[in-house]
Amino acid sequence: MILKKIVNYNLEFFKVSKIPYIIKNFINRKNISTKTLFTLIGYIYFLKSLIKLSKYLRHNYISLLKNVPFLKNKIDNEQKKVLREIKNDFDSETSSFKNIISLPLKPVPEFEIENDFKDMVKEYSYDYKNGYVSGSLYSNNKGLDSLTNKLFPYFNKSNPLHTNLFPGIRRMENNCVSIMKSLFNGGQDVCGTFTSGGTESILLACKTYRDLAYDRGISSPEIIVSSTVHCAFNKASKYFKINLVEIQSQENGLFDITELEKKINKNTILVVASTPSYSLGIIDQVDLINDIVLKHGIYLHLDACIGAFLINFTKKYDFSLDGVSSISADFHKYGQSPKGASCILYKNKDIMKYQYFIDEKWTGGVYATNNISGSRCGNIVALTYATLLFNGIPGYQKNFKHIKSCREYVLSEINKIPELFIYGLPELSIIGIGSKKINIYVLSERLKIKKWDINNIQNPDGFHLCITSYHNKTILGKLISDIRECIANIKNEGLGNKSKSKCIYGTMQTISDNSVITDVATNYLHLLNNVNLDLDSS
Ligand SMILES: Cc1ncc(COP(=O)(O)O)c(C=O)c1O
Repeated sequence: MILKKIVNYNLEFFKVSKIPYIIKNFINRKNISTKTLFTLIGYIYFLKSLIKLSKYLRHNYISLLKNVPFLKNKIDNEQKKVLREIKNDFDSETSSFKNIISLPLKPVPEFEIENDFKDMVKEYSYDYKNGYVSGSLYSNNKGLDSLTNKLFPYFNKSNPLHTNLFPGIRRMENNCVSIMKSLFNGGQDVCGTFTSGGTESILLACKTYRDLAYDRGISSPEIIVSSTVHCAFNKASKYFKINLVEIQSQENGLFDITELEKKINKNTILVVASTPSYSLGIIDQVDLINDIVLKHGIYLHLDACIGAFLINFTKKYDFSLDGVSSISADFHKYGQSPKGASCILYKNKDIMKYQYFIDEKWTGGVYATNNISGSRCGNIVALTYATLLFNGIPGYQKNFKHIKSCREYVLSEINKIPELFIYGLPELSIIGIGSKKINIYVLSERLKIKKWDINNIQNPDGFHLCITSYHNKTILGKLISDIRECIANIKNEGLGNKSKSKCIYGTMQTISDNSVITDVATNYLHLLNNVNLDLDSS
């Protein structure tokens, strides 16, 4: 704290705005000698370095504090406490499983392997089959399960990389992409590729636009997003060194269009709109953004990863809009396919060509691929194709109607709870919930104790419910009554709206201390990867 104060004080003292004043004073003196001029320049450089140093200190003071032995111990111990909790959670989830960590000396009999599987499958931490999980699992159809189980052996050994070995996979992959293209009103020129998931679709789209920008002589391309955009865009910006310009979303989760217009410049290559966003489930104003990109001659990507197979039944946010140049759309969410299936579509091949990787000199032969991965499992493609055919338009339309009626039910019930509010106007499956009266993260922790796996979100604070085909009004009614009960308890205990905590995506884990988030998140990943960490208390 003391160091933070010193740093802030330094910044105040050496404000850039003081420099012109100093210069003016010098110039007002009639005879400025060369010596004085050099002193002045030296002084300015000195000030600039101090400002840089102050900024560095301001951003890195925690790292610096960690070098003070007494403080380092304190920070380390706090971190260890959080990590021990996370580790205990992980361990308790897997404590009943066998733990075989080197190859068995003798082959394990088949029945034993199957028994282990039976044990492990029993231990889901949350009862997704009865609707206790938000998002994550989307296909709840026994007929489809039995079909995909039957079809599993057909292409299980196939690899789309070896196109000559598996022409059937090539046909199915092309057909999956064509089906997605037709869902998004793609004309003759629209083309695309099958990918392993929403993140890969987004990474590939960003890399594509970056290389297209380079080709046009833009050396520092910028992509403009709203703060609710999926984190995969940030990942892409870091992986591919693209400047991501993030605009804070409006309070209702919509894109801040005024800011968007201000941020467009000669380096802007792409604007991204979510249809809808992961965190709040809000569909950005695609019509308006479409007009803006057309006016400025830039590209527009629609992220329909979670919206695909829902939005297609309600809005024409697709290639029928002239400005839309690409769409990421997943099969493995509301398309109900096995995981590892998404699609990136482009307006035409002149954009898509920038996605390709070609090494014409490689010792293994000319290497040309669409995707980030090399070898892939062709079975995902085959089972995705089967899923699309099995459901057809009626299957997906039925699911859309089901989600819609569940959404309307949850919206009306949450609106009756005075301690909670809903962010904006959710139009599809995700409902973002916040509170000004209680600590929303305490509520989500309480719901976790009641075995609900809902998703915490941040900026703005809250959690969201992502409705899937596992939900129905009965189980959602139970959620609402559990929410009411938890709120009553929180209020009785006088917990109010106190400390805020950060959440880790895909888990209910929270980190309460902002300053150690990166360290804790790194160690969280180490724990996930079973890396040995010394977490003994000292
Ligand atoms: C809007 C949106 N985009 C992208 C993704 C990333 O998809 P995936 O987890 O399949 O990589 C998600 C995931 O939920 C999403 O909701």
